[in-house]
Amino acid sequence: MTTSPVSSVANLETPLKFAYWVPNVSGGLVVSTIEQRTSWDFEYNKKLARIAENSGFEYALTQTRYAASYGADKQHEATSFSLALLGATERLNIISAVHPGMWHPGVLAKFIITADHISGGRAAVNIVSGWLKDEFINFGLEWLEHDERYVRTEEFINALRGLWTQQNYSQSGKYYNIKDFTLNPAPVEVPGRAHPEIFFGGNSTAAQAAAGRTADWYFSNGKDLEGFKENIAGVRAAAATVNRVPKFGLNGFVISRGTEAEAKETLREIVAKAHRPAVEGFAAAVKEAGQSTKDGKGMWADSTFEDLIQYNDGFKTGLIGTPEQIAERIVEFKKIGVNLMLTAYLHFQEEVEAFGREVLPIVRELEADLARANGTELNTALLPATNFEGAAL
Ligand SMILES: Cc1cc2nc3c(=O)[nH]c(=O)nc-3n(C[C@H](O)[C@H](O)[C@H](O)COP(=O)(O)O)c2cc1C
Repeated sequence: MTTSPVSSVANLETPLKFAYWVPNVSGGLVVSTIEQRTSWDFEYNKKLARIAENSGFEYALTQTRYAASYGADKQHEATSFSLALLGATERLNIISAVHPGMWHPGVLAKFIITADHISGGRAAVNIVSGWLKDEFINFGLEWLEHDERYVRTEEFINALRGLWTQQNYSQSGKYYNIKDFTLNPAPVEVPGRAHPEIFFGGNSTAAQAAAGRTADWYFSNGKDLEGFKENIAGVRAAAATVNRVPKFGLNGFVISRGTEAEAKETLREIVAKAHRPAVEGFAAAVKEAGQSTKDGKGMWADSTFEDLIQYNDGFKTGLIGTPEQIAERIVEFKKIGVNLMLTAYLHFQEEVEAFGREVLPIVRELEADLARANGTELNTALLPATNFEGAAL
């Protein structure tokens, strides 16, 4: 086990939060012909969401995709799917992915307020700036050059926040002009939340700067410890210029098995059975992301063929091994400043439940030890309730 020092930005009192990727596109979360007992249909997802909220998960994240990519040839639309999942659950926060450029921020702000009222304050958004050029071009929409997409995204988020928190809101900019607008009703008042939470997915230098200045949460693709430290520093530096303190979420693909050898064997099989043409097509399409910028940094810029099989670089995070090894690794990420782990699995229903039963209790023990060793206490009052009987498959 590697043990990194505790960063000054780590929040040791607050328990880590856990999210899972909603499989609302076909093909599972790895582009491989290995058996995946995961379905993209609504009935499967409804049950999965209930299992997750009973197993200690606080968030679920949908994906927005309009056209086939990385083998996901069928997709359910993210905002409507999220709304339906909110209706099917009681405590889970559902984060809906949305592309600026596909939505007007006022229309989305209104939509999310309605979802927030229907769900008692559990609606959230993940603002994604897009990399799949054909989706925009073939819809007849403008495709902005990489860094310019983030200029629009920043205006988009400012508009969302303004419309959610102010009356007679006005904003004039390059992409959006809003005049004297009041959305009624306002979002639900939830203690500790100023408005529906705004997550942000993106890795390049431009993405980090825009996220730092505007987002509540910064989401990263899978990374190792050193890689994520860099992202945290970039985002926090931008946030400091406007006195904001964002929280951090990190993606990881979980393979938790009885022994480390079994877990590694499963990874080997995923890779051996990779759907090569789909992964190669994806590798070509993502050149529109951070790689296309001046410094060449960003999501997928240094991803190998093997990394891209989990299309959000989830193997890099290293959540592969026994429950103990995975829990230890997760707490290492907490020590550098991660607040939330976003997870994916081969067999979602079974493995989300097993994660809640086998990995989370060890994480909680390690978090409590870590807090004590640093002269503080884990605030257990903030831990989500679990109900494994309710989660029974
Ligand atoms: C957690 C997370 C979720 C994302 N979800 C989506 C999505 O649903 N749809 C999409 O088109 N892009 C999604 N993205 C991709 C980002 O919008 C962005 O295009 C990508 O991170 C490349 O960013 P970069 O060029 O700034 O490195 C997601 C990214 C992250 C980190």
